[in-house]
Amino acid sequence: MILPLPDAEATRKLGIKLGRSLPPGTAILLQGDLGAGKTTLVQGIAEGLGISESVESPTFTLINEYFAGRIPLYHLDLYRLEPQEAEALHLESYWDGLERDLGIVAIEWAERLPYKPENSLRISLSYCDSGRQIELMGTGELLDWQSQD
Ligand SMILES: Nc1ncnc2c1ncn2[C@@H]1O[C@H](COP(=O)(O)OP(=O)(O)OP(=O)(O)O)[C@@H](O)[C@H]1O
Ligand SMILES: [Mg+2]
Repeated sequence: MILPLPDAEATRKLGIKLGRSLPPGTAILLQGDLGAGKTTLVQGIAEGLGISESVESPTFTLINEYFAGRIPLYHLDLYRLEPQEAEALHLESYWDGLERDLGIVAIEWAERLPYKPENSLRISLSYCDSGRQIELMGTGELLDWQSQD
């Protein structure tokens, strides 16, 4: 599914829909150039989950965790990680843990993951003439998942 995102508000609104409708246990893998809108989308997702705390980019902290919404949100940003560091962190414990506490994990720069969760929503944000566009693709159990509008 490919959708146009003319401005940051459109990206935030799509995030809100995702936050309201994504099933617990979802790993969201976000790809897209610097400034493509990954954090903006996650801010919308947090809002849709009912998290009122402001969501900042975890570029320096690596992981931010939010427990005040419908389900927990774990927000990761792998931009600063070298491939061997990403491996040493055993990030798979995050999505294994998802099955236990049924949260959502959103990972910016997910292309830096050494291995990917089987069940995930893969999201790619890109620049285009009219702003940005987004491509969403579910894998595994999320293959047939559609965002409700
Ligand atoms: N359609 C759009 N969607 C999202 N952001 C947009 C859009 N149009 C303009 N912007 C602006 O682009 C910037 C996107 O920043 P954001 O931090 O969300 O990107 P990012 O992909 O997380 O970048 P980084 O790789 O640095 O983490 C914001 O300043 C936002 O206002
Ligand atoms: Mg970001």
